[in-house]
Amino acid sequence: MIGKMSHKLFNNILTIRSMTSICKSSRSAMTLALSNAYINGKWVPAEDGSTFPVKNPANGKLISEVADMTANETEAAVNHAAKAFKQWKDYTAFDRSKLLKKWYTIMTNNQEELAQILTAENGKTITEARGEIMYGTSFVEWFAEEAKRVYGDVLPSGFKSKRQLHLKQPVGVCGIITPWNFPNAMILRKVGAALAAGCTVVVKPAEDTPLSALATCHYAEQAGIPAGVLNVVTCSHKHAAEVGKVLCGNPKVSKISFTGSTETGKILMKQSVDTMKRVSMELGGNAAFIVFNSADVNAAVAGAVSSKFRGSGQTCISANRLLVQDQVYDEFCEKLTKAVEKFVVGDGLEDGTTHGPLINEKAVDKVDKHVKDAVEKGGKVLIGGERLAKGPAFYSPTVIRDINQEMAVCREETFGPLAPVIKFKEEKEALLIANSTRMGLAGYFYSQDIQQIWRVAEDLEVGMVGINESVLSAMNIAFGGIKESGLGREGSKYGIDEYLNIKYACFGGLH
Ligand code: SIN
Repeated sequence: MIGKMSHKLFNNILTIRSMTSICKSSRSAMTLALSNAYINGKWVPAEDGSTFPVKNPANGKLISEVADMTANETEAAVNHAAKAFKQWKDYTAFDRSKLLKKWYTIMTNNQEELAQILTAENGKTITEARGEIMYGTSFVEWFAEEAKRVYGDVLPSGFKSKRQLHLKQPVGVCGIITPWNFPNAMILRKVGAALAAGCTVVVKPAEDTPLSALATCHYAEQAGIPAGVLNVVTCSHKHAAEVGKVLCGNPKVSKISFTGSTETGKILMKQSVDTMKRVSMELGGNAAFIVFNSADVNAAVAGAVSSKFRGSGQTCISANRLLVQDQVYDEFCEKLTKAVEKFVVGDGLEDGTTHGPLINEKAVDKVDKHVKDAVEKGGKVLIGGERLAKGPAFYSPTVIRDINQEMAVCREETFGPLAPVIKFKEEKEALLIANSTRMGLAGYFYSQDIQQIWRVAEDLEVGMVGINESVLSAMNIAFGGIKESGLGREGSKYGIDEYLNIKYACFGGLH
């Protein structure tokens, strides 16, 4: 469908015919639907011309055929990034900051195009996609500012003849491996920090959603980010492992930052050991969402809706297990069911749609498996619990009560629109259940009891806790988990440290 490599951007765009499936309102969005990888400032096809299809999960239609790169092209991208690093690290922080600000401004000015592409390839509603573009780009603006605040230290010296300093230096080339659930934000949260620190990057976006990644490159090019600083290697599922292996194994890559499943994160960590790379891992969750008897139940229901059903339940910090205390259990279940009844499931680009499809049929299979398992073991479906005829990637938003610990939904991350509600009696029991997992990304609870608020906030084994609040994400907070949910923090004043080494410098021989 798409032609071979061209130096002209417009040769990389989709045809108007296919574009109508991406963007109903804005023809200019077609300029972004690129089909080649972006290496060393050029739009390049795979060496053998192979491509893989990117399809719209709402209707299964082909959006684009994208370059299917392999280990070879990835090595080349790493070499270009290593070469570009030599110059980029020597830009002043102020110059890097200016370029990042420019990139941020161009992307926010083109929020609609980016959102349309995101909805087309990921399925989330256009309102959520617009929100994601604002969220993703906010990291670029944030780190443009942080670039100018990378302070080292001058230490009080213990020796008259010595002066001791800490210098902060960029780690080098970074391999950035990102998921499909936030095709824009997960890239910009990492790349914003890396570029601000003076690192260069090779990004491998998820095979389901490479177009949002390529679109950000288009704007980086417009902003004047130099060739080789930002590289995107696209590939199909077939080549994902070999591309990942190059990024983890190549000694020219100094750091790996990954967002995705714990299982894949462990493989990437193992592959990074031989070259002793720095790693940041934002991995799976199994968030508990606890509602205590003293809670404002209406607020808790609104919180559960936004946490559990954000992106149709496909976020790492989505509530996975809803634990509700006995006195408010029935009221909560009833009100949550009523709220879910109002959802309008459909194509994310259609007016009025509140919840889009899942990413693909495999994701639907997992939700269905969890629902069937829960029902077999005594769970009662209050709403939903079935595949939808709209298409293979659609599942009805579901609430199930009478959930118990034996059910798969309590042990595994569903990553879909299923709210399982567990009844508990005592605070201790809720904490025991909440912490009975190797995951520790986010947790939430609703309570009006101040003593309880402090106890539970401190005792939940997670990296992030929402107290009477279910929307946690922002560029200024330290995002990340503990236990098997990952290592390192993204965003906030700490996010840039993941891309910096501290060098101790000792000036001696002073009198
Ligand atoms: C995630 O699902 O991994 C990211 C969610 C967020 O940044 O809010």
